[in-house]
Amino acid sequence: MIDLRSDTVTRPTEAMRAAMAAAEVGDDVYGEDPTVRALEERVAGLFGHQAALFTPTGSLANVLAVAAVVAPGQEVLCEARAHIARAELGAHGAVSGLTMRTWSHPRGQVDLAVVDELFAPDLGPYFVRTAALSVENTHNFAGGAVVPLADLQALRAYADERAVAVHLDGARIWNAHVATGTPLADYGAVADVLAVCLSKGLGAPAGSLVLGSADQVAEARVRRKRLGAGMRQVGILAAAGLHALDHHVERLADDHAHARLLAEACGADPAAVDTNIVTFDRSDAPVFVARAREAGVLIGAVGARTIRLVTHLDVSRDDAERAAKVLASL
Ligand SMILES: Cc1ncc(COP(=O)(O)O)c(C=O)c1O
Repeated sequence: MIDLRSDTVTRPTEAMRAAMAAAEVGDDVYGEDPTVRALEERVAGLFGHQAALFTPTGSLANVLAVAAVVAPGQEVLCEARAHIARAELGAHGAVSGLTMRTWSHPRGQVDLAVVDELFAPDLGPYFVRTAALSVENTHNFAGGAVVPLADLQALRAYADERAVAVHLDGARIWNAHVATGTPLADYGAVADVLAVCLSKGLGAPAGSLVLGSADQVAEARVRRKRLGAGMRQVGILAAAGLHALDHHVERLADDHAHARLLAEACGADPAAVDTNIVTFDRSDAPVFVARAREAGVLIGAVGARTIRLVTHLDVSRDDAERAAKVLASL
């Protein structure tokens, strides 16, 4: 089977497993796991932030990052198909007590004119107040679309003028970095808080990080423990992340090339494929998914009509070519 359902299906390579087995560990709740600390320091440094916190999942990293800048009863604005709005099962409301309003863009982009219509300044004890603007880069449900740095910088300037925060869901920021050549520090500079994942394109079995100021991350550490996600000898997982940073970032360009090849085979526009995700609509989506499975290719539907293909570390050039043939024949 060639599995194109998600870039989260990868299995650790032998070299990654060796790095995990050799990891020096300690009790991270006591702050004594040297491998976790090394990972946190390295990732904070890459994005030019003061501090970082390791979390088991990207969803938790987003919950902690947003809660660092939005208090209960305040709101965050984001795009309508953002992961924080659609796929974290209401955690930001249920756990952090905040509300959300959304703007829509077919490619998950920032539309400052619409953001401005939504934006709610502090009008006293009558209205919910906007405390943060959130953006996802790359945007998962918008087909792995990159949000251009210039647009992020404009959002940053807009937020600064209104003294509100910017949250960046950078689960796949590595893909945006490789696709555009934008330095990670430039992405770090546009956001007060970020969530980044090691378990998507980078191929680690688990692990994400929250980035922000030393104070924000210290508070996120308290909240992480409160939610039961303080982990002990978790350097074993952090070692997988460090290995991924050393070996799996630049190769994301291969995933992007494979995605364009698959798009072409499916009649989608390869020029619209920014990174490792291809989405296209078919009225017979469930049947198409079932027939692909029978032919040895696992793909997913992310809506009644929308098909999604995702390339990753465990899809070789040969796999991509074989899958392209199967999908073209269907
Ligand atoms: C854009 C984005 N943010 C956050 C997450 C959450 O990551 P996790 O599945 O580790 O909770 C995902 C998961 O696919 C994602 O695509």
